[in-house]
Amino acid sequence: MGATVPRGLAATSDRSTIPTVRHAIAVASGKGGVGKSTVSVNVAVALAETGASVGLLDGDIYGPNIPIMMGIKQALERSETGKITPPVQYGVRLVSVGFVAGESDAIIYRGPLVGKMIQRFLSGVDWGDLDYLIIDLPPGTGDASLTLAQSAPLTGAVIVTTPQEVALADVRKCITMFRRVNVPILGVVENMSYFLCPRCGERTDIFSHGGGRAASEELDLPFLGEIPLDPRVRVGGDEGRPIVVANPDSSLALAFREIAGNLAARVSVVTLTGPDAVQIELPKKEPESSRSC
Ligand SMILES: Nc1ncnc2c1ncn2[C@@H]1O[C@H](COP(=O)(O)OP(=O)(O)OP(=O)(O)O)[C@@H](O)[C@H]1O
Ligand SMILES: [Mg+2]
Repeated sequence: MGATVPRGLAATSDRSTIPTVRHAIAVASGKGGVGKSTVSVNVAVALAETGASVGLLDGDIYGPNIPIMMGIKQALERSETGKITPPVQYGVRLVSVGFVAGESDAIIYRGPLVGKMIQRFLSGVDWGDLDYLIIDLPPGTGDASLTLAQSAPLTGAVIVTTPQEVALADVRKCITMFRRVNVPILGVVENMSYFLCPRCGERTDIFSHGGGRAASEELDLPFLGEIPLDPRVRVGGDEGRPIVVANPDSSLALAFREIAGNLAARVSVVTLTGPDAVQIELPKKEPESSRSC
């Protein structure tokens, strides 16, 4: 089970470095559509709100949707040094292959080209001094994810999952991949945890509940937090105004900020003491309301 790493590729010495980036953090998942890009965008903006300098790299070279979610579409500019100058949106510097390809272009990169493209985005971009570079990965543990996990100088990875029982298998796949390339797992985020009825406040556990927390407990990983299923999150993504920007005082924005805070704490711990040091334990939250429609 899990990712197969071609012989000789697991060496961390293959990683390029970005001297001005303190922490590169990959956001990954075992399968598609669980909310990696949503989490990447909102956590990046939430970190920037705290005063940190933050970059966001759309590592999903096959299906880049960070430009839409961040509400920005523009051709990449180059500085005098020939490097790409990342545009800034909501306080975050961002780069996406979506800036170079048309919105409906089918993007086909095979084998070594994937690596080349990723290298270009890592070392060919004038990121400047960054506290955090959030890298949104494509779904699963395929070629592009693996290449990125191997070649980016990652402090660690965040795994996004949904609450179903089967989530454990997906999380496990991801972990196997990152462990094989010596990247620490910073923690697990459970997205689409439950649905809170906007009219009556009743909570429904659509995909069951707690799979992400259970997975992190079983696999001995920190649990960074949970985000409910809420149409405002999708609308924010579609309209290019992440929920932390569009509804900054909502409980959703708060949940993303809490995850960002836990992530920053975990990054500090891993940096200072190594990946196996401390688990962050979040208090178990009671449902916000048990009233029904
Ligand atoms: N908590 C949420 N509540 C409601 N909708 C959500 C939530 N999280 C994500 N979505 C929506 O679900 C869809 C998939 O989310 P997203 O694109 O972030 O997932 P992904 O894991 O990056 O997908 P892919 O694997 O295709 O890259 C998007 O339309 C997004 O707006
Ligand atoms: Mg995505």
